[in-house]
Amino acid sequence: MADNKNLQSVLTEKRLFAPQPEFVARARLDPERLQALHAAAARDHVGFWADLGRKELSWHTPFGKALDDSKAPNYQWFGDGKLNASANCLDRHLGAKGDKIAIRFEGEPGDRKNYTYKELHAEVCRVANALKSFGVKKGDRVVIYMPMVPEAVMAMQACARIGAIHSIVFGGFSSSSLKDRIEDAGAKVLITADGGHRAGHIVELKKAADEALSQGCKTIEKVLVLKRTRHEVAFDVKRDVWWHDVVGQQKPSCDPEWVDAEHPLFLLYTSGSTGKPKGIQHSTGGYLLGAMTSCQWVFDLRDDDVFWCTADVGWITGHSYVCYGPLANGATILMYEGAPTVPDAGRFWKIAQDHAVTIFYTAPTAIRALMKLGDDWPKKYDLSKLRLLGSVGEPINPEAWMWYHTVIGKERLPIVDTWWQTETGSIMISPIPGAVPTKPGSCTKPLPGIAVEVVDEAGEILRDKDAGGYLVVTKPWPSMLRTIWGDNERYLKTYWSQFHNKYYVAGDSTHRDEDGYYWILGRIDDVLNVSGHRLGTMEIESALVSHPKVAEAAVVGRPHEVKGESVFAFVICRGERPHGAEAEKLAKELREHVGREIGALAKPDDIRFADNLPKTRSGKIMRRLLRSIAKGEEITQDVSTLENPAIVAQLAGKA
Ligand code: WT7
Repeated sequence: MADNKNLQSVLTEKRLFAPQPEFVARARLDPERLQALHAAAARDHVGFWADLGRKELSWHTPFGKALDDSKAPNYQWFGDGKLNASANCLDRHLGAKGDKIAIRFEGEPGDRKNYTYKELHAEVCRVANALKSFGVKKGDRVVIYMPMVPEAVMAMQACARIGAIHSIVFGGFSSSSLKDRIEDAGAKVLITADGGHRAGHIVELKKAADEALSQGCKTIEKVLVLKRTRHEVAFDVKRDVWWHDVVGQQKPSCDPEWVDAEHPLFLLYTSGSTGKPKGIQHSTGGYLLGAMTSCQWVFDLRDDDVFWCTADVGWITGHSYVCYGPLANGATILMYEGAPTVPDAGRFWKIAQDHAVTIFYTAPTAIRALMKLGDDWPKKYDLSKLRLLGSVGEPINPEAWMWYHTVIGKERLPIVDTWWQTETGSIMISPIPGAVPTKPGSCTKPLPGIAVEVVDEAGEILRDKDAGGYLVVTKPWPSMLRTIWGDNERYLKTYWSQFHNKYYVAGDSTHRDEDGYYWILGRIDDVLNVSGHRLGTMEIESALVSHPKVAEAAVVGRPHEVKGESVFAFVICRGERPHGAEAEKLAKELREHVGREIGALAKPDDIRFADNLPKTRSGKIMRRLLRSIAKGEEITQDVSTLENPAIVAQLAGKA
């Protein structure tokens, strides 16, 4: 569970920021309209979503029954309706908004390119036809491993157009992670690029893809390769096809494949508390509705906005708030390929200025990093077009919130701190910017149609406003995950079994204050949140143990100024415990090893070698103790139940 200090600090946060009248005057939702939505959802939860489903989405075949709970908790929404996600994101805007810019793109080297809705539609159709020419059919899986370029969105939309299920693997993941995900999904085609630009370097995507494919991935028949960095890469003419060779030749039209609302739109792998990542499966109709309506409510998305969500398409945030949500609303998005500090610390703010960004949505880790670089950088740029700021991925500490509010928001802009997960598909708890006063560090209240509660260990709903416990969702919602790909048992066990299938268990602990505001305290399982990304401790431990010199490893999180949490590993070697220069050398080797096994973001910041781990007599590792040690705390816990109490001093680095 989250620690007390965290709880204490949020409990003393009393500042309240009411929406500015100018904002409220133009907002899609003012307090009254928000109240009406909440009331409608409270009267008839399913009817509320059914009305929105009919109004917001374009259906080829309208649905009859909105919710089928006969196989609960495998809920189905809009089950007998048929639609296509890409037709909803593109085709329906071609009339009135055909010449409106859909994507504004800026690469890290500074190259820029815009696509109107008409142009994007034509490109997506070409990619869809190329995939068809490879034999990709409805239900086939396509893995996408690309940089943050418009072609990544085109690839997603092209899959959706022909009913193929995409599964994006974040470009920062290693070849070994890529291989595992390709194999679990059983993908037929891989879409990648020669490389991407990041922090002044080239991310060697094709090289990693080749490594993954050389180690297995037998289901892959074709690899579609975008030329982005134009450096030399290996090319297997029997398997690889250049994007510019094949896509350019295709027809710019392709009829959308009408799929059932429940047809999987995509899989996205995320870490859990065990070693193996879970393929979170999302639907077409329900997912799209959640992504769409949350854009309208939370981001107050309007026709004249330029919406910049800085997340990579490799994460759920990039799916819902780069690709599907904004495009389904016919909005203009900004995509930026690279790092926030290249060529200098003002890059983000320069982009916001140059592209007249109005909505800026990023992660607390980025906010803290930018804050540390000083106020002079944002002050150099004209940020007057900004009208709304957002945060996602982890709890935002009040200091970072206040900096965002004063330096970027000029004490004028609303901040939406949005709580949600890969599994929830879209934002669940967040301020409505024109209606809900904010408190720094709180994601405030659930959205209309989202039923959230706090329960105790026994699963009893805590009715008092002021309550702490497990965060659960008590009613199904359209954009919820449908299952874990290929493992429904794990779906039931992970999210539902704890409270006997009554509630969806988010895995977070929370406090709800006397005003009914939610404060997310952190994960309750063995999952770390590093820079807003979930990493399973088991996953990192398995990677460490796969190194020939490692016998055993235990990984915990340690609070980190910028990343939120950093990875701290306790390692037991085969043979002698290394010391001095030898220990340093091995630590470096292990970091690289974890980078190769999972990806750079999982590399431990700290590695401590010991002769043993602290275990109870039944052999359980005392993680709570390891967490205290990692934080450098004085050990006040009772260690008498330990098999080996003497080890504590060594683990603390004192022996
Ligand atoms: C976990 C989900 C949803 C997109 C990014 C992360 C934490 C997320 C917040 C927030 C406090 C947050 C939770 C959650 N989290 N947003 N606004 N305040 N915590 O997606 O990788 O699926 O991780 O991120 O712990 O369970 P994800």
